[in-house]
Formats: sequence, structure tokens, C-alpha cells
Amino acid sequence: MVAVSFNNVWKDYGGGAIAVKELNMDIKDGEFVSLLGPSGCGKSTSLRMLAGLEHISSGEIVFGDKIVNTLPPKDRDIAMVFENYALYPHKTIFDNIANPLKQANIPTDEIKRRVIDVAKLLEIEQLLERRPQELSGGQKQRTAIGRAIVRQPQVFLFDEPIAHLDAKLRARMRSELKHLQHNLGVTTIYVTHDQLEALTMADRIAVMNDGVLQQFDTPQEVYQNPANSWVATFVGEPGMSLMEMEMTRMDDDLALAFEDKTIKLDLKNKARLTAAGKTKLLVGIRPDKASVSQLEIPGAFECQIYSRQLLGADVLVEVEFGNSRVRAKADTSFVGAVGAVCNLIFRSEDMYFFDAEDGKAIPH
Ligand SMILES: Nc1ncnc2c1ncn2[C@@H]1O[C@H](COP(=O)(O)OP(=O)(O)O)[C@@H](O)[C@H]1O
Ligand SMILES: [Mg+2]
Repeated sequence: MVAVSFNNVWKDYGGGAIAVKELNMDIKDGEFVSLLGPSGCGKSTSLRMLAGLEHISSGEIVFGDKIVNTLPPKDRDIAMVFENYALYPHKTIFDNIANPLKQANIPTDEIKRRVIDVAKLLEIEQLLERRPQELSGGQKQRTAIGRAIVRQPQVFLFDEPIAHLDAKLRARMRSELKHLQHNLGVTTIYVTHDQLEALTMADRIAVMNDGVLQQFDTPQEVYQNPANSWVATFVGEPGMSLMEMEMTRMDDDLALAFEDKTIKLDLKNKARLTAAGKTKLLVGIRPDKASVSQLEIPGAFECQIYSRQLLGADVLVEVEFGNSRVRAKADTSFVGAVGAVCNLIFRSEDMYFFDAEDGKAIPH
């Protein structure tokens, strides 16, 4: 097991866009870190640079206290699992998992013991004599993971390993992988575009956009204190709504102007916004902190219902207020239909504040 660092790493494939810009990240020994971001943001490139499959344009990659920039992949003691798990089609499941041990010239009886141990852990023991085409997607994926962990490497690298599995199996695999990594204690870097996977599995999440690391923090912090408006809307499902507001005065007190209304501020946020001294703000509210009602509520905004979607336990209602759209979660008993008028309310304590100019979070 080993700590892993990116020190000021850049990757330029040439031809214009730079895939990874000035990446700095210290991953602790035994930590589970998720690289999260939309397609094309540089996640796989970062992972492949760690693996040694891609040269870095500048900077350093460090394993423990060793700079590994020029170390070939086979000498980095890593195991990788990709989305297309590339099993050997003509080999049995046993031989697929045993392959890295055979290549390392491990004695046959030890190979047998270790393959069976891993197969038990992944609950594919009864499948060892089969071939890949006789397995379901989830079983194939577990075989690929088995092949990666059988060797007990220093670092696991996962690149969207469960992205194509069906939703139910994905939920189970999230829990299995998390449990497995916890037991093995191997430093793990896990690439995903799925914010739920990152939130549920990682010790820390590195959120990337457009080749740039936006925030590197615990799931809790990324969710509750997003570094900027982009992270705020990318993490969390259904996503946060953003509203354009301006600082104003009401009854000789600081307040927020929102469309044609004025919103009073709680003391804490008033102090925070006064200190920041910004006029134009992006104000965020998560759907579970906004509510809609067909009753008259003092201080509520009269809106029109734009859409309603049943989520199961509750309903996601999207409403229009002036030029703004806001999502709110409502009880399934909420009867408002599309086009109907309803009242929207949220508390200033639950608002997220960002600078409208650069999107950065207003400091606490
Ligand atoms: N081998 C390559 N040659 C040129 N450009 C590449 C290559 N691999 C990736 N890119 C580009 O680098 C950027 C990041 O890609 P990638 O790391 O694969 O993103 P992600 O895994 O986040 O979807 C993209 O713009 C992609 O088109
Ligand atoms: Mg990728």
C-alpha cells in the first residue's frame, strides 16, 4: 500500500485542447478517492498517467517517496479495472483470475488457494469452470475485479468499472466494492461520471471539469460546501437550482432582490454577504430545501408549475418564477398539475451563495 501524488501535472495531447491542467492531489495510503466529472473532463487521462499508460507533459507523479514519471506500468505495482473488462474469452474464469499469478511464477497450489479465496469473496466460486460468455455482465465484472485484486497490488485503478451494468446491480456493486476496498485497505482511485457513485463510495472526491480540478474534499463537504456553482449543480440529484439575485436594501436593512420580490436574510448570511461585498449573486437551493404549496403562505413566491415528476416516495415539482426555474420536492399528495399556480418557499438559511462573476462560493 502506498500514498500517491500528482504534483503540478499537465497533459497536452497536442491539437488544441489541454486534457489535464495543473493537477495537484495528494492521495493518502489506503484512501478511496473518486475522480468525478462529465465525459471528456480528463478523468481517464489522469488515471492512465498514474498507471504509466500515458506520458505526462510536465509535473511529477509520486508513489510513496518515489517519482515514477518514467517507470513502466508493470513496475508500478498497480491493478486496473476498466469498463470493458477484457476477459480472455477462451480461458475459464479460474484461469482468467489466475493469469496475473501465473505470470508472476507463483506456485500452482498457492495460485489455487488465492483464486478460490478471491472467488469466495466475490461470490463467483461456483462459476470458476465456466467461460466468460456463460456469465452475466455483473459476474464478468466481478471476475475482472477478482483478476485485479488476486495480486494484492499497491494501488487499484478503476475506470468506470460498473457504468454499463443495470441500475440494481450497480447499487449492489457500489456496496460490494466499498466493502472490499475497506477490507483490503489498498489505495484506490476510482473514475466515474456518476455523482452518486462518488458520493456513496469515496473517502474523498476529486471533482474535475474541463481538465481542471474544481474541488478535492470529503463527499459531505463537496455536497454541503461546494467550491463553486459548477460543483454545486453537478453534485446532488435532483440538482440544485440557481437563481440570479442582487444585494439590495429593505427597511434600511440588507436583503436580496429576486425577480420583482425582496427576500430578507438571516443574521448569519447577512454578515457573510456583507463581508463578501458582492452585489450580483447566484443563489442555490437544493430541491429538498424548497417547498411548494397550493395554500397561501406569507413570504412565498407565486409561481407556475412547469413540470412534475414522480420520484417514488415524493414528487419533483419544477416551477417558474419570472425568468427563474426552481425545483422543489413535494409530498405525493401535492395535486398541482402542469400550468397551475402554486406558492414556492425556501429559507435563507438553506441558500448557497456564489459570486455571479466567477461562480466561486462566497466564503463562510
Ligand atoms: N489519445 C488521445 N489523443 C488525443 N486526445 C485525447 C486522447 N485521449 C483523450 N483525449 C482528449 O482528452 C480529453 C480528456 O479525455 P479523457 O481523459 O478520456 O476524459 P474522461 O475520461 O473524463 O471522459 C478529451 O477532450 C479527449 O478527447
Ligand atoms: Mg474516461
